[in-house]
Amino acid sequence: MSFDVFLNFDGDCRAALDFYADVFLTGKPAGLMTYGQSPNGCSVADKDRILYASLPIFGHSLMFSDCPSGEQYVKGSNVALTLGSDNTDEIHRIFVAMSVGGEIFMPLEKTFFSELYGMVRDKFDITWQLSLTAFEGATSSFNELANARYSVRSFKLHPIGDEKIAAILEAGRIAPTACNYQPQRIKVITGGDLEKVDACSPCRFGAPTVLLVCYDKNISAKRSSFDNKELGEIDVSIVTTHLMFAAHEQGLGSCWVAHF
Ligand SMILES: Cc1cc2nc3c(=O)[nH]c(=O)nc-3n(C[C@H](O)[C@H](O)[C@H](O)COP(=O)(O)O)c2cc1C
Repeated sequence: MSFDVFLNFDGDCRAALDFYADVFLTGKPAGLMTYGQSPNGCSVADKDRILYASLPIFGHSLMFSDCPSGEQYVKGSNVALTLGSDNTDEIHRIFVAMSVGGEIFMPLEKTFFSELYGMVRDKFDITWQLSLTAFEGATSSFNELANARYSVRSFKLHPIGDEKIAAILEAGRIAPTACNYQPQRIKVITGGDLEKVDACSPCRFGAPTVLLVCYDKNISAKRSSFDNKELGEIDVSIVTTHLMFAAHEQGLGSCWVAHF
């Protein structure tokens, strides 16, 4: 589950993005989309207003938008807390509980950027946006993904579905390797076998799945024209990087571990 902040502006979002980008030295905003670029269309007046953009600030993705013109905008209430989860039931439960005594701005429904998205102001006047985590994927450029990934050293015990593992392994399969020999061999370790991992390393950090990334020396390329350098280790470093980014895209944390 992710927990982020969404700032809302009344036509001056672009100026605010420039301001915060200068203050935090973040470079250009990621994922910037105007109302005019939205697949839903918009009025001429809203064409250049910002529908979405984000800035990486101290390891968090701070999100920004303009409200549509003509919408009642009260300064001071222009911050929304944004919860992302990959669990549909969890989103429904929180949304219903949050709505009691509050006001639903947008009921939970499919949008062009999320399979499930809703906005509610709770009875304490706090605005919340809830969405399926796919929301992050829909807005993430490579730079955003690379900025957001970090080494996780505390994991939940939730088992990871086969589909997610398959997507991650596919990213490792298509990684470049020297001469395209593809010497990578990845063992997926779960359940009782994790004890064997713990016997080799203190760095599992409670992860429910470990990917042991190996290469076959009989297959890997050697730099034979010069010094016969073994290139398999470089191959699997690239493969592992692909795996980590793919894991992040699936909403999963990871940590590269060489200490074993
Ligand atoms: C080749 C390599 C080996 C690493 N080995 C370990 C390790 O054994 N244990 C660990 O906790 N972190 C390990 N890390 C994680 C690094 O400490 C971490 O990537 C680095 O501090 C940058 O932090 P970030 O991943 O959060 O951006 C390793 C990273 C790399 C690239």
